[in-house]
Amino acid sequence: MKVLVVGQGGREHALLWKLKQSPLVDTVYCAPGNAGTAADGINVDISDTDIRGLVKFALNEKIDLTIVGPEAPLCAGLVDELEKLGLKVFGPSKAASQLEASKLFTKRILRRANVPTARFERFDRAEAAIASLRTLEDGPCVVKADGLCAGKGAIVCANHEEAIDAIKRILVDREFGKAGSELIIEECLVGQEVSILAIVDGHTIIPLETSQDHKRALDGDLGPNTGGMGAYCPTPLITDELMTEIVEHVLIPVVHTMNMEEMPFRGILYAGLMLTETGLQVLEFNVRFGDPEAQPVLMRLKSDLAEILLAAAERRLDQIEPLEWDERPSVCVVMASDGYPGSYEKGRPITGIENADELEGVKVFHAGTKLINGVPCSNGGRVLGVTALGDNIFDAKRRAYEAVRKIRWEGAWCRKDISDKVRELLETENA
Ligand code: AMP
Ligand code: GLY
Repeated sequence: MKVLVVGQGGREHALLWKLKQSPLVDTVYCAPGNAGTAADGINVDISDTDIRGLVKFALNEKIDLTIVGPEAPLCAGLVDELEKLGLKVFGPSKAASQLEASKLFTKRILRRANVPTARFERFDRAEAAIASLRTLEDGPCVVKADGLCAGKGAIVCANHEEAIDAIKRILVDREFGKAGSELIIEECLVGQEVSILAIVDGHTIIPLETSQDHKRALDGDLGPNTGGMGAYCPTPLITDELMTEIVEHVLIPVVHTMNMEEMPFRGILYAGLMLTETGLQVLEFNVRFGDPEAQPVLMRLKSDLAEILLAAAERRLDQIEPLEWDERPSVCVVMASDGYPGSYEKGRPITGIENADELEGVKVFHAGTKLINGVPCSNGGRVLGVTALGDNIFDAKRRAYEAVRKIRWEGAWCRKDISDKVRELLETENA
């Protein structure tokens, strides 16, 4: 098979690396890819939002299966365009991608599916939104732009003053452009956040091993929000009972409702949930693998990823064997550029990746990297996802940081506490 992975981050490098191990796969392309996907596969110089260019390439090269990593091409309808031409693709249609692209769409589906989610009101005018706030007692709330804002559209506010500021940023200053032409004001929920990812073919739902992201820039979950500074797999937050509850009360009703709405969901359904005192509530959906969650999860997958994703694309997930997982837990530490998540320099040469890759159980996934004169250089905020398997989570962490220490570039940094939450969680469980 010839396979095309669309995207250029750590998630796409992990997908490509895993797909390449399949006996079904002869060639893996990545568009546009990074220095890591160039080493493990073949990069194609087409942007992940150039829908026409991608379709043309897939058609000309007779690609047998396309896998779409990021949300932008999904929400722009890449899957629909490929399927129209009879090409096989793993990912949701444009209509189904609204589960990520529109908070209002998602609220409507959740209501129809009878799945618990925070109470909310929608607004398209700042005056009306502010007037409505003033009728409520001052306190925390969450203001969310309706559309895709690269993870920055949800603003958790401690009080009405902050909420008014958030409303103005979205509806008056138009900080998120068209994505913020409507917003919702939502009840602020309190509890532990967990996420579940499942492979779905419209009918069959196969949950993946669980993982936990680290969204804040600094140790101890301090500092600004980022795309994710590291993740580990599995997480003790999600017990077997909780997984069953999530499948029964969230995933099945949502997949069923999407069918009733004639927008069957196929691809990765990623549910972001809050475990509140009164039970679980859905915060959001993503319609793709998480980044960096994909890296530690795919590192543990023993089954053939190409076989699974092909089966999903052909709507026959019910026929595949149960997924097999490496018993060993995994940890992924993101190495970032100085200044990220703010502005940063690019083009810094990176050394030591090969030495790190040689360590037992370690794989360095590239994210924002680019080859310049044959040398891997930094080319983004999140640069590498250094991922390791270990006999237990502490061993996996030790190995990941041992690999991190072998890698250098000017201005490189990372969080030092990826996976430490597990210790706290295990301690609370045993207390
Ligand atoms: P979202 O894009 O909707 O997932 O929101 C991003 C982040 O904002 C979540 O991961 C939560 O940490 C936080 N968040 C979103 N909605 C709520 C809510 N209703 N109550 C508390 N925190 C929230
Ligand atoms: N790591 C969170 C995300 O991919 O959205």
